[in-house]
Amino acid sequence: MIRFGVIGAGSIANTFSLAMKATKHQLYAISSRDIEKAKQFQQTYGYEKAYGSYEAMLRDPNVDCVYIATPHGLHYDHMMLALDYKKPILCEKSFTLNAKQAEEVLYKAQEKKLFVMEAMWTRMLPAIQELKKTLDSGIIGTLTHMEASFGFDLRNNGKDRMIDLSLGAGALLDIGVYPIHFAHLIFGNPKRFETEVKMDPRGFDLSESFTFYYENQKAILESSMASNLNQIAIIYGTKGYVKVPRFWSTDQATFYDLNNKVVKEINHPHLVNGFEYEINEAAECIEKGQLESKHIPHMLTIEIMKEMDALRNAWGMKFPNE
Ligand SMILES: NC(=O)c1ccc[n+]([C@@H]2O[C@H](COP(=O)([O-])OP(=O)(O)OC[C@H]3O[C@@H](n4cnc5c(N)ncnc54)[C@H](OP(=O)(O)O)[C@@H]3O)[C@@H](O)[C@H]2O)c1
Repeated sequence: MIRFGVIGAGSIANTFSLAMKATKHQLYAISSRDIEKAKQFQQTYGYEKAYGSYEAMLRDPNVDCVYIATPHGLHYDHMMLALDYKKPILCEKSFTLNAKQAEEVLYKAQEKKLFVMEAMWTRMLPAIQELKKTLDSGIIGTLTHMEASFGFDLRNNGKDRMIDLSLGAGALLDIGVYPIHFAHLIFGNPKRFETEVKMDPRGFDLSESFTFYYENQKAILESSMASNLNQIAIIYGTKGYVKVPRFWSTDQATFYDLNNKVVKEINHPHLVNGFEYEINEAAECIEKGQLESKHIPHMLTIEIMKEMDALRNAWGMKFPNE
């Protein structure tokens, strides 16, 4: 059993805490900059310990793995700190602000022989794993192209992290990371890309479209924090296509032939909210003494960060603290 300690008592820490009940692992400690907030979390979810500072929790020898649930602009500092305290890490997406930060964190983790994993939970969902296996079986023939879009209007959601550049503001790192990971799962590393962006005057991306080109395929992708997009991914092949609703958090997918007849359906309802699978994966890797997960190897996290660097570079967008 792995005892988890959480850094940051914000929204996603709630989702994580709820999912734990479908695992055999423990909500051991919650840490917040505000002890009252930590105590509130402790009461709601039954954490054994509540800490009023992240470092105080990291000093606790009973914490076996740290879940980092702070804004992406702080992930680098929080991961480096956790590694200093010799703690294995499960860190929320986007992993860091850029590839250089990701490489530094992962290099240090390797040096210290500590497990680190990007919490891209989509990769561990049973429906996504079956989707990938079914595609590999050739059910819709040779894959030709795909499209995926993901967007919400988050402009007035009251979160500093969406509009504060030093916290990693913008649609790409918050939302675009999902279609990028998804396209990577299907087609691997792109060879080149084309992109268009709508920037906010404050210097972050509100909406973007990007087409990734591979040897013989392409992925047409879109993300936005300024409008609701349909959240559906469609993957096309020479013998049919597959529709994946809410592809980033999905528990289902439907395959069709070229006459639009359903040829296969996938249904794997989440046990709680879908986070339980990434929690189990991280815990199992730690228990086995692995330094990375086969579902999200370090090289993949670095590649995804490089793809996002390249997009921001094409738009002329920089974070002040990178
Ligand atoms: N996997 C998913 O589906 C998913 C969904 C949403 C978000 N996320 C990721 O999870 C991370 C956190 O997102 P969230 O929506 O939970 O954010 P949030 O509600 O804004 O919470 C982040 C927490 O970080 C801590 N924090 C430390 N320094 C901060 C600062 N300077 N400004 C703001 N917060 C600070 C705060 O905790 P204390 O006050 O307790 O210290 C805060 O509650 C992001 O990287 C995001 O991309 C993932």
